[in-house]
Amino acid sequence: MPERGSAEPGREARALARLYDVDLVEDPGDLDLYLALARRTGGPILELGGGTGRLAVPLAESGHDVTLVDVDRAMLERADRRIAAMPAGGGRVDLVAADLLDLRLPSAGSFALAFIALNTLFLLATRDRQRAAIQVLADHLAPGGLAVVDVWLPEVDDLARFDGRMIFEYERVDPETGLLVTKVDAARHDQTTGVVELTSVFEEGEPGGTTVRWVRRDALRLVGADELRVMSAEAGLIVETIAGSYDLDPLHPGSDRAILMARRT
Ligand SMILES: C[S@@+](CC[C@H](N)C(=O)[O-])C[C@H]1O[C@@H](n2cnc3c(N)ncnc32)[C@H](O)[C@@H]1O
Repeated sequence: MPERGSAEPGREARALARLYDVDLVEDPGDLDLYLALARRTGGPILELGGGTGRLAVPLAESGHDVTLVDVDRAMLERADRRIAAMPAGGGRVDLVAADLLDLRLPSAGSFALAFIALNTLFLLATRDRQRAAIQVLADHLAPGGLAVVDVWLPEVDDLARFDGRMIFEYERVDPETGLLVTKVDAARHDQTTGVVELTSVFEEGEPGGTTVRWVRRDALRLVGADELRVMSAEAGLIVETIAGSYDLDPLHPGSDRAILMARRT
């Protein structure tokens, strides 16, 4: 794996990376969109914050070369395993361990499609960092290349629940370990900054047996469609559309996602 240092992820980081994939046992439904966009643009493809390779690996299996950048080595370790299990004959996935905000790949300026999927932009929890991330996307695209950024648009009722109360998320079996996982979230929304402080508590174990508890803490800065539009224009991108769903329905009041698509000139 290129550009990966020698530091081994710890037990907690590995557990949280595995539990990230348990979160996504419930398919968010975005893969077909990226496959369709990749057919339209061709490759190579860049994914910033690509995690465990949920999107990058099937994109490569469909024949595209993909570069996946992530700062979390435990996530990359899982992506590496997915890559090892890929059938021969598709494209390749290059894994890059880096903070995406520091990214300047030798192949910058060559990507046909570059994207930040599934609320990953929120994790860069200040406006300046989010704006810089979109600049990194723009700088890595070839002229005419397509940038995509996908974020959730919470409703007022969602935000009202983000007052620190515990919210039951799910109880499901981890297909990898066979252990029962229970997830509870507590979120607090600061409306002056748009930042949600999210604590996720996972308990896993045999049904009726002792459990192990893992805690993940994230700060998420919410971004609306207008702000996405402004940030991408600031990065020199030309906005083609902001869709309101993975089927590319037009954004409308009540849309629960904003999916920005913008071109580098
Ligand atoms: C919500 S996960 C999404 C993973 C993947 N895109 C998907 O849709 O399955 C966000 C990922 O972004 C990564 N990430 C967060 N901040 C980052 C940064 N500054 N640089 C690189 N990766 C980052 C996290 O490590 C995590 O793997």
